[in-house]
Amino acid sequence: MTLVEGNDEKGIISSKGRKVKRILKEYEVDKGERGVYNSKNRLNDLTGREWTFFINSVQITDFARDEKEFELWKFLQESIIETRYPTNGKDSVGHNLRKIHPSPKPPQLIKDLIAFFTKEGGWILDPFMGVGGTLLGASLLESRNAVGIELEKRYIDTYKEVCKREALKEQLTLCDDARNILNIDQIKNRPFDLILTDPPYADMLSRKRTGGDRKDKGAFTSDERDLGNVPFEQFFYEFRGIMEKAITLLKNKGYLVIFCKDMQPTNKYHNMLHSDIVNEICKIKNIYFKGYKIWYDKTINLYPYGYPFSYVSNQLHQFILIFRKEE
Ligand SMILES: C[S@@+](CC[C@H](N)C(=O)[O-])C[C@H]1O[C@@H](n2cnc3c(N)ncnc32)[C@H](O)[C@@H]1O
Repeated sequence: MTLVEGNDEKGIISSKGRKVKRILKEYEVDKGERGVYNSKNRLNDLTGREWTFFINSVQITDFARDEKEFELWKFLQESIIETRYPTNGKDSVGHNLRKIHPSPKPPQLIKDLIAFFTKEGGWILDPFMGVGGTLLGASLLESRNAVGIELEKRYIDTYKEVCKREALKEQLTLCDDARNILNIDQIKNRPFDLILTDPPYADMLSRKRTGGDRKDKGAFTSDERDLGNVPFEQFFYEFRGIMEKAITLLKNKGYLVIFCKDMQPTNKYHNMLHSDIVNEICKIKNIYFKGYKIWYDKTINLYPYGYPFSYVSNQLHQFILIFRKEE
């Protein structure tokens, strides 16, 4: 960290290792390379920088001996998928258009999941498609067919624009409420090999958050049918209802993959949403939880939450929950 006198820029240590300039306050001590120590810290002797790195919810301590081999097998063998996908240029798969959505998923990550859970010619369903992370992931692979349902037409339009611009196959999109899934002619009789989705989690996005991803902001839509707008207590029941219908379209031995990010715990509730979701989905007949992968998104910045008084987790990871239909 470089300290330059006369510059009052606010200090944030980013996960990208960006250097920050600022003047010291009277209670701050320059610890050189370690960063700045806050003498009001009653918890430990860490500098702000050390604190911020400690509260990262993901800590990688193991490194492969052979980098090449690690790259090759990383996806299959690691329970933690560490990524830093580009957010501009050709390799971003139209991220600059997709970013009108509060939480677009990277198609490259989805592509790897689809490649694991389906064969060529496979059909994939996403009942909450947003701007099409799942559909784009399917199109990045050879001969996959995907169907997406989304309430908000402008997200579908954006998806279509990305397909055109990136010269990717446009998959089937349906502007509808996912609650109607079994009444939609184009899909009601289709057996799917994989359901891969990233649902809205109740009114999570509109809540004031302390240790969350600051990129997630605002509600997805103002539509009252949007699962993102239903009260938290009602959400689980509604979500299970939709998934119960969707799962009737899933082939026997087909997989269900759900993205989920935990919320900050409170003294009233642990808020491990991933665990609540697993409990809820397991109430559905013939669907079984098989485990999870953790996705560590390294494009998200670290912030010194709680510093210098108390531990607040910097959640840079999401759960990829994996279920299988077994009749
Ligand atoms: C977390 S986002 C999905 C983002 C997506 N994975 C992507 O890459 O863009 C969830 C989406 O579900 C949509 N949604 C919410 N309730 C819905 C419903 N009842 N039927 C269909 N779509 C719904 C929201 O508008 C939102 O775009």
